Amino acid sequence: MPAPSHPFQPYADRYLDHASAGDVKPTALQIVRDLELVDKLQEKVILITGTSAGLGLETARALHATGANLYLTFRNKAKVEAIVKELMASNPQGQLPTLIEMELSSLDSVRQAAKQFLDQQKRLDILVNNAGIMGVPEGRTVDGFEKQLGTNHFGHFLLFQLLKPVLLASGTAGSPSRVITLSSAAHKASGIFFDDLDLTKHGYNPMLAYAQSKTANMYMANSIDRHYGAQNLRGLSVHPGLIITTELARDLSDEDKQMFASIAHVARSAEQGAATTVWAALSPHFNDHGGVYIADVGVSGPVAEDEILVGPGYATHAYDEEAEEKLWKLSYQAVGYDE
Ligand SMILES: NC(=O)c1ccc[n+]([C@@H]2O[C@H](COP(=O)([O-])OP(=O)(O)OC[C@H]3O[C@@H](n4cnc5c(N)ncnc54)[C@H](OP(=O)(O)O)[C@@H]3O)[C@@H](O)[C@H]2O)c1
Repeated sequence: MPAPSHPFQPYADRYLDHASAGDVKPTALQIVRDLELVDKLQEKVILITGTSAGLGLETARALHATGANLYLTFRNKAKVEAIVKELMASNPQGQLPTLIEMELSSLDSVRQAAKQFLDQQKRLDILVNNAGIMGVPEGRTVDGFEKQLGTNHFGHFLLFQLLKPVLLASGTAGSPSRVITLSSAAHKASGIFFDDLDLTKHGYNPMLAYAQSKTANMYMANSIDRHYGAQNLRGLSVHPGLIITTELARDLSDEDKQMFASIAHVARSAEQGAATTVWAALSPHFNDHGGVYIADVGVSGPVAEDEILVGPGYATHAYDEEAEEKLWKLSYQAVGYDE
């Protein structure tokens, strides 16, 4: 995808102040209200991964307010059942979400989850690839991939491929279906190590592996849009900002935890972080403008010289058709799926 030449940033003035308290950044629910979509999407089907905590929970809460039919993936049933109870209590007129068990670090579990969905649904309008892990110690998924690339990218890549037929069948010219994939400002720290995906030659570094997986998330979104945009299926990637109240940092080393603590003053709430995801999922702007990286509820431009570490700009390697295509093909092989 070519990098966006005229970024669309309707909320830019709300992001001038980085203070986390008393600021004016929109929340996910505010985006639904601003787009006048409360209770308006009863016919739409939305699947969100990783809704048991953090941004996924706030994304589910806001999308539930649209009246859409939600499918929520989980690993911990008790955790997600409590969330569904809470969603229904705060929005009783909303549809009861359906829960689907899925462990992204197992391709077999992803296949079973996709089958469970497809057994119940012939429609999917929006897929939100939100689940993720960050900075975990070196490890492998069930299928032998480096853990962060395997969980954050390969698991979601296979999920998308298995759900692609219903996404394609559900999109129309006036209302294309969408795949929103959570990337991160961390993508700026690394491209893809095509000759060393598990970082054994370079020496495993938890945050470098996370950065690589987040660039992979962005490349998948760009590739989805390039391959299927003309068939009414759009791909978008999102950086939600820095949110330190979620569970994402649970596996970080003390040193990495200190690094995040040092920039805590620019953090936002999970409700504010999910605003960008929800805007990507719902704004009519993206019916015609896919394949872009979105942050601060706006289409990102290139990294500015004075930008903070977790700021909204994209790195020079973010839009690289050759690398995107290389990862796309390699991912098909890795997950054992034919195009
Ligand atoms: N927080 C930030 O500052 C930030 C910044 C940039 C990007 N992001 C991205 O935003 C997304 C959500 O992050 P978050 O901050 O909300 O994190 P979080 O609070 O840790 O939530 C992560 C979600 O993913 C699920 N998950 C983790 N590993 C999984 C696996 N192997 N299989 C299936 N589900 C799994 C978790 O389920 P369990 O409850 O079962 O663990 C949880 O529901 C991630 O993709 C992250 O990279 C976050």
